[in-house]
Amino acid sequence: MPDRKPLIAGNWKMFKTIDEALITTQQLQKQVGHIKTVDIMIAPPFTAISLVAPFIKDTSIGLSGQNMHWEKEGAYTGEISADMLVNAGCQYVILGHSERRQYFNETDEHINKKVHAALNGGLKPVLCVGETESERDSNKTFSVLDKQIEIGLQGVAIDHVDNVIIAYEPVWAIGTGKTATDEQAQDVHAYLRKRLNDIFKNSAASSIRILYGGSVKPNNIKGLMAMPDIDGALVGGASLDADQFSAIVQYE
Ligand code: PGA
Repeated sequence: MPDRKPLIAGNWKMFKTIDEALITTQQLQKQVGHIKTVDIMIAPPFTAISLVAPFIKDTSIGLSGQNMHWEKEGAYTGEISADMLVNAGCQYVILGHSERRQYFNETDEHINKKVHAALNGGLKPVLCVGETESERDSNKTFSVLDKQIEIGLQGVAIDHVDNVIIAYEPVWAIGTGKTATDEQAQDVHAYLRKRLNDIFKNSAASSIRILYGGSVKPNNIKGLMAMPDIDGALVGGASLDADQFSAIVQYE
């Protein structure tokens, strides 16, 4: 069984001014900054990233962007590059979140370009995949995931595999309070693990961490983390509050 260190990630979305971000980051630094058994990641809005970075330097808390562009630089008003994220203090970037797919028309092809740019730029991409409620109801869950994962990871070299992170986020569970059951999530994670092994044709794929996301809270994290193929969580709403996020980090 490969050693997959759990990763608990917080996606702050479009919440928190710089002052609010600084307060939450300092609280997290005190509460969980010393924890060594779990990797922790927070994804503040772009405006706060470089300002919170000094407060979590040399702690277990890493920093992430919530999105980026695939070009290195250029005339792309409103966009930000991998180099800019690294320079601001990030080690990770969330890519292909369902809100980006839904509201900003991101396609699997766009997301694949971003995955390459992130890996080449030294960032660990957290590639988000997941089916909508109607796709699940019409038994399309696995075919939707196949497409997202195959195109999303197209052309990724095996030596980059250790830096790839997948987040399975059923769209119907995001921000709705409806979580997939532990078993529903495990079934999909086991399926994704098998697909990753097929895609990379290499046992190295078994080291890829697969996070679950969608209404993760302090009261449901433990059951999810007990599942063999769930290696962590991508937390939205509950990551905005330091006490709740710390409780999730300390699920054991
Ligand atoms: P939620 O969001 O925890 O608020 O459901 C999860 C996410 O969108 O990553």
